[in-house]
Amino acid sequence: MKIEYNKSLKKYNTFGIDVVAAEFITITSESKLDTILSKSNKNPLFILSGGSNMLLTKNLDMLVLHIAIKGITITEESDKHVHVSVYAGENWHDFVQYCIKNNYGGLENLSLIPGYVGSAPIQNIGAYGVELKDTMTSCEAIHITTREKRIFLNQDCKFGYRNSIFKNDVKGEYIITKVTFKLTKKEHILNTNYGAIKNALTHQGITKPTIKDVSEAVISIRKSKLPDPTKIGNSGSFFKNPVIKINHFINLQKTYPNIPFYKIDKEYIKIPAGWLIEQSGFKGKRWGDAGVHEKQALVLVNYDNASGNEILNVSKKIVTKIKEKFDVLLETEVNII
Ligand code: EPU
Repeated sequence: MKIEYNKSLKKYNTFGIDVVAAEFITITSESKLDTILSKSNKNPLFILSGGSNMLLTKNLDMLVLHIAIKGITITEESDKHVHVSVYAGENWHDFVQYCIKNNYGGLENLSLIPGYVGSAPIQNIGAYGVELKDTMTSCEAIHITTREKRIFLNQDCKFGYRNSIFKNDVKGEYIITKVTFKLTKKEHILNTNYGAIKNALTHQGITKPTIKDVSEAVISIRKSKLPDPTKIGNSGSFFKNPVIKINHFINLQKTYPNIPFYKIDKEYIKIPAGWLIEQSGFKGKRWGDAGVHEKQALVLVNYDNASGNEILNVSKKIVTKIKEKFDVLLETEVNII
């Protein structure tokens, strides 16, 4: 198995941060993964998937395993549904496009999300009213030290808003190798309630959208707001949208009557972090090569050669200001390494 030494990770993280991995192995099969894990029992490992939800702030003085196992199989099929199992190293958007091409419905709203399939369950990726948890039936994972395979059913994953068991109870213990989805073959349940999707479809005069229409609408919305990581380094939303108590929200509303919000329940309200950041004057600001995207303030960007710490400093400025101005504590969505 090929080990690469002092390998630059610039191409392996969507922020495009140039740090180095002491040792780097690309894993292309489950058996290779097992062999490596059996040998590296006590050594620290770093598991790298699509690198689309992390900010690297230092060199990784350890063995990095890049999980690139590929393959898509149909495991079960009926008249109405199909169960599709996908290996962790498949590119997420390519997989979604495979589904659209085959008329498998359920993932169209999650088009164009960067990253690999294997890391999608970790943060329960979501966009435009749909989350991975809505269609994922199970995922398979290997325990890093015991090398035992475990199947996590949907309900085992304790999915929440950008959250799962893999970020909590079993954090850092497993490598997800395969994810299975139950998708529709007909009578697709479209989710077009999100304002921007509705507008895009109406604008095109589409009254009975197909899953392809929805996917295309999502792609055009994302392209219009979110920077393409192959051109400008970024990791999508840098922070989670904060959830605050209703009384706190009512107070904020007195000063900011136009504050957007999503009601969660009787006690809590979610507010868009992008709005808070824009109101604080950060949108489009730049410090050297690190900055805040000009069209979506929730996205921090690396214009060229920013270091992870430069991006992190921008995020700290934002957190401080938002706490001061709104008494809201922003939590990062991106993993800081
Ligand atoms: N807004 C502003 N200024 C900004 C950005 C947003 O005022 O610079 C306001 C918008 O006007 C709107 C609200 O904030 O009223 C929400 O904005 P948007 O629809 O762009 O969504 P978001 O809440 O900023 C979330 C997800 C995105 C996902 C979109 C669409 C999180 C942390 N982010 O963003 O996910 O694509 O909704 O569903 O929940 C990601 O996780 O990386 C990601 C891109």
